[in-house]
Amino acid sequence: MKIKAYYFSPTGGTLQVLREFVEPLGMLLLSEVEYHSYTLPEEREELPQFAEDDVIVWATPVYAGRISF
Ligand SMILES: Cc1cc2nc3c(=O)[nH]c(=O)nc-3n(C[C@H](O)[C@H](O)[C@H](O)COP(=O)(O)O)c2cc1C
Repeated sequence: MKIKAYYFSPTGGTLQVLREFVEPLGMLLLSEVEYHSYTLPEEREELPQFAEDDVIVWATPVYAGRISF
């Protein structure tokens, strides 16, 4: 089982908050944490791959009251 942490973070704030959440989670679940940015266009060329027992954490900023995928 892995923790896969997906994030959109142009200026790094979202990634910082994500790390604060996901690192203790990794210790709690005794799981490796894999970070996956989809901030840059080239990081969005392939669809994410998930295993059945992966834990997915997703972090994105709010822009104008909306979240971005
Ligand atoms: C154009 C723009 C619009 C924003 N709109 C909101 C908003 O509606 N609500 C909010 O809480 N934060 C808003 N923010 C703040 C961002 O969500 C915040 O700066 C976030 O940390 C940016 O993520 P990043 O540091 O990972 O790039 C906005 C920021 C920008 C640049």
